Amino acid sequence: MLSEKYVDTGWDFRSADTKQLTHCYHNYPAMMIPQIAARLLEQYAHQASLLFDPYCGTGTSLVEANVRNINAIGTDLNPLARLIARTKLARINLQILDLYLKEFNDFAFAVSFGINKPSVVLPTFKNIDYWFDKPIQKKLAVIKYFIEHITDEAVRNFFYVGFSETVREASWTRNSEFKLYRMTEKQRAKFSPDVFGLMLQKFARNRKGLVNFLERMANNSAWGRVDDFNTIHGVPSIEKETVDIVITSPPYGDSRTTVAYGQFSRLANQWLGIENANKIDAMLMGGQRKTITPFGIEIADKTVAEISARDEKRAQEVYSFYNDYQQSIANVAATVKKGGYACYVVGNRRVKGVTLPTDEITAAFFARHGFAHIETIVRNIPNKRMPSRNSPTNQTGITDSTMNHEYIVVMQKP
Ligand SMILES: C[S@@+](CC[C@H](N)C(=O)[O-])C[C@H]1O[C@@H](n2cnc3c(N)ncnc32)[C@H](O)[C@@H]1O
Repeated sequence: MLSEKYVDTGWDFRSADTKQLTHCYHNYPAMMIPQIAARLLEQYAHQASLLFDPYCGTGTSLVEANVRNINAIGTDLNPLARLIARTKLARINLQILDLYLKEFNDFAFAVSFGINKPSVVLPTFKNIDYWFDKPIQKKLAVIKYFIEHITDEAVRNFFYVGFSETVREASWTRNSEFKLYRMTEKQRAKFSPDVFGLMLQKFARNRKGLVNFLERMANNSAWGRVDDFNTIHGVPSIEKETVDIVITSPPYGDSRTTVAYGQFSRLANQWLGIENANKIDAMLMGGQRKTITPFGIEIADKTVAEISARDEKRAQEVYSFYNDYQQSIANVAATVKKGGYACYVVGNRRVKGVTLPTDEITAAFFARHGFAHIETIVRNIPNKRMPSRNSPTNQTGITDSTMNHEYIVVMQKP
């Protein structure tokens, strides 16, 4: 049993605006809400100078650290997530951005009215014709051509972030789902997105967020960095015992049976020229099956055994995830200073009718590295974009309610 575990509705943030600052830039599955990172920082990071988020996704906790003048390092295996996180942290020069935005406006006008007909080569990635109508492909290729010619890297990334959301929204994907599902023939026949209009919408929204972010950063010297590391294998870019606080939300399970980050990002990653964009999910935690061997940690072994008794294959999946998780925690734990904190926001999903106590397993994995459990706050999830039902039995039509709560597990290195 954990020492302090309690429900606190004060952490629900029901009517909070979760899209302030650069948090408005890009949608992503299972985003952390900034208010959680903010409150944790206020409670546990008074003297902090460095935050680390090992599964930073779009960089929510990194931004919250930076606006409090705390340096921030994030890692994520998904190139799209890294692009978004980096861009959200960038102090983009507004004058240069506005010049390019004006140029893009003129360019969009000239292309739309046939005044400018740039000759572009269409990308050739697999299934492009399955997901994009030919005229849409041409417009997207023209926009990409424009972006490639932007010389200022931060501004170019700002454009790519808007482009990425546009790619998804201009594709035949059903936009209400994270996984890639194609629209029906009837829906496709009626679908005619205004590609340039989508880009301009994103730019207007994101520029506002950027202006607010720059205001908050005006008298502030904090830096932010996003690295490409698989935290299972290590984080060589961070020196041992230098991090004051870790604030992160790890995946709830492997991508295949929980949230498919790679699949959500695939079309954008393909348009951005990322190789092996369709292999990302297999690289994330739990992506590779492993043979079950005991952890030597009662709560973890008991959980795997309970699922094994019902379904060996599902038990192996759960084990593989926890095995990677344990490795990753070992690497993260080593980066934390003595007296520093690790705050993990996790979900206790159900598999085959068994609730996986990931909060307690997290504390137990950290305990192996000498961390003391401080508290676990149980919060309701009113606004996290997650599938709230899943099919843990793997039988069509039999669903099980999954995470309506999340657990904020706070641990400290003595
Ligand atoms: C719940 S999301 C994080 C969301 C983030 N807090 C936000 O607000 O956008 C989990 C992230 O973990 C990343 N991830 C999964 N396995 C990883 C690994 N082994 N190393 C690094 N990142 C990983 C996924 O790509 C995903 O972006």
